Parts: sequence; C-alpha cells; structure tokens
Amino acid sequence: VIQSVVKFLKEKHFEKYPKVKQLVEDALDQYGKIPEVKAKADEAYKKGDVNGAILWEYQVWQYMVKTADVGLRAKNNLTKALATPMTAVQARGEEAYLKGGCNGCHVIGQVSSGPDLTGVLLRHENAEKWVFDFIKDPASKYEEDYVKAMINYFNLRMPNQNMTDQEIKDIIEYLKWIDENAGLY
Ligand code: HEC
Repeated sequence: VIQSVVKFLKEKHFEKYPKVKQLVEDALDQYGKIPEVKAKADEAYKKGDVNGAILWEYQVWQYMVKTADVGLRAKNNLTKALATPMTAVQARGEEAYLKGGCNGCHVIGQVSSGPDLTGVLLRHENAEKWVFDFIKDPASKYEEDYVKAMINYFNLRMPNQNMTDQEIKDIIEYLKWIDENAGLY
C-alpha cells in the first residue's frame, strides 16, 4: 500500500499542494521511526528475548499502519485537489504567498505559530476586504477584539510583509482555492 501511495503522490507532484505536503511530511515522519524500532526487535530476538521482540515488532506494525493511514489521507486530499486545479491567478497567489513568507507562520490545515488560514474568508464580515486590509497593514487591526484575542493566543503580532495590492489580491484567490479543496464551498 505504502509503495503505491508514494508513487501516486510523486507522479502528481504532491509538493505543490500545501495541505498534502504537510500530510506527506507527517507520513514520512512515522515511516522514519521504523528502522530504529525494527533494529530493537532484531536485537531482542538475537538475545533470545522473544516477548521483547514481539513487542517491538508490534511497534513497527503500528508505525506502518499510521504511515499508510496518513499516506492514504494525503492521496485522497490530492485526488480532490486535482479535481479543482488552480487557475493561473491562484497559482500566482501561491507564489506570492511563499515569497511573502506566509508559510513561515501559517500552515494550511493546521494551527502553528499563526492561525490556520483555511476558512479565513468565511470568518469575517465582508471578508475579502477585511483580509485584504489586514495583510496590507496588520497593525491597523491590532485593536480589533478578534485580532486582540489572536495576538493573545499566539503571543505574536503579525508583521507587515509589504505585499503589493496585486499580490494580496492573488493571495486571496489562492485562499479561495484552499477552501474549495477543504470542501468549504
Ligand atoms: C511572523 C509570523 C507571520 C507571518 C510571516 C505571517 N503571518 Fe499572518 N498571522 C500571524 C499571526 C500570529 C496572526 C494572528 C493575528 C496576530 O496575532 O497578529 C495572523 C493572522 C493572519 C490572518 C487573519 C487570520 C484570521 O483567522 O482572521 C491572515 C488572513 C493572515 N495572517 C495572512 C497572512 C499572509 C497572507 C501572510 C504572508 C503575506 C502572513 N499572514 C504572514 C502570523 C504571521
């Protein structure tokens, strides 16, 4: 299962899809733990500690199941993403997003040093304008209750990334693509 999933993900350039990329990294993380545990199983077996060996083998099996599970989720996600390909503008938005270093604090599908931006366009009144203004000049909204609460939670004020108006517009289109793939609309 793992081999066929890996083949599919590579062929379809999973690294272009932030959410899928995150899942693949999680899967690889699980997979990377296997050799060490496997070595412990072999060692126990050599020492004649059959019970110990069985326990370590069980751990190996658990990591394999987890890897396969996350891998399959990545595959399903990618299949969905391929069903809604990015428009040229959205792809430009993704570039601006990476160039602006947004991914340093925002991980799609996960809360990290900043909030998950999935669904951000559904979280605000007149959201496109709000998000535009916030990216343009975060400090202008530091005093809004909602932003204050986030600043408290993350213990961080989002810095101005000096994006141009065009870049911000493109990023908003990219955020729409993320929401489409998350099945939000
Ligand atoms: C240094 C970390 C950091 C960087 C870089 C960063 N952000 Fe943020 N962002 C945050 C934090 C933290 C918040 C929560 C508000 C606050 O604390 O200022 C936030 C909030 C947001 C929000 C509002 C989220 C919501 O739920 O309403 C949007 C939209 C956003 N960021 C977009 C971007 C974009 C686009 C970029 C790149 C141009 C970017 N951010 C770069 C840390 C960052």
